[in-house]
Amino acid sequence: MSTSAPPSPLLVLDAVGKVYTGEIETRALADVSFAVSPGEFLAIVGSSGSGKTTLLNLLGLLDTPSEGRLVLDGQDASRLEPDEAARVRRERLGFIFQFHYLLPEFSALENALMPCRVAGNDRAEREEPRMRALLDRVGLGDKLAKRPHQLSGGEQQRVAIVRALANDPLLVLADEPTGNLDSRNADEVFALLQALTREAGKAVIMVTHDHELAERADRIITLKDGRVASDVRSPGPKAD
Ligand SMILES: Nc1ncnc2c1ncn2[C@@H]1O[C@H](COP(=O)(O)OP(=O)(O)OP(=O)(O)O)[C@@H](O)[C@H]1O
Ligand SMILES: [Mg+2]
Repeated sequence: MSTSAPPSPLLVLDAVGKVYTGEIETRALADVSFAVSPGEFLAIVGSSGSGKTTLLNLLGLLDTPSEGRLVLDGQDASRLEPDEAARVRRERLGFIFQFHYLLPEFSALENALMPCRVAGNDRAEREEPRMRALLDRVGLGDKLAKRPHQLSGGEQQRVAIVRALANDPLLVLADEPTGNLDSRNADEVFALLQALTREAGKAVIMVTHDHELAERADRIITLKDGRVASDVRSPGPKAD
């Protein structure tokens, strides 16, 4: 019998640190190390100023670490040139923000397709059936033609979740994805985010203030003063 090796990590952070320079130097992150496996749903929590946004900006290749290494899918992505970082972002990462950032002039379907559109009209045409099916899956099948202002906050955020999956990313980064919603909508949107990314086998890293939502992740990393204070896996469903 062969024992299967654990999947090689999708993302590795190795002693990552970040110091903001300027009039006052601020150390925002120190010695942050962890690895994320394909399909893992990771929540990052921590009090205000603990370094969550700083970390998410590094993971999203929107900023570069002052120390350490960030390896995405086997490639050192710590200090890419801006053009290269933009390409990796477009092709490898999906983003969901607290505010959906949908384009007001475009329909729900066109918004969801936007990352494909950026990659070319052919790509958009090819992916349209999948995007229609995903929008249907999140309950928006009859609202494909609506513009963002004609949708509720929860509906807009569901479009943003589908959009984050448009380019078939390796990793979805979510910054307070339900932070702008009431608790019932937050619950629904979180459940859809979890279901869709699970079905697609995508890893998710989600920053949240909401401990109840964090408890539903596979794993919770708590930041404190820019360091990993704890890294805990959820026990998962009990086997009978
Ligand atoms: N651009 C910047 N220049 C200088 N210092 C910064 C900058 N951005 C953040 N900081 C500092 O870095 C530390 C971490 O900030 P960060 O925004 O990552 O925290 P956070 O955990 O996201 O907090 P919150 O929950 O309030 O959003 C804080 O001390 C903050 O003041
Ligand atoms: Mg923040």
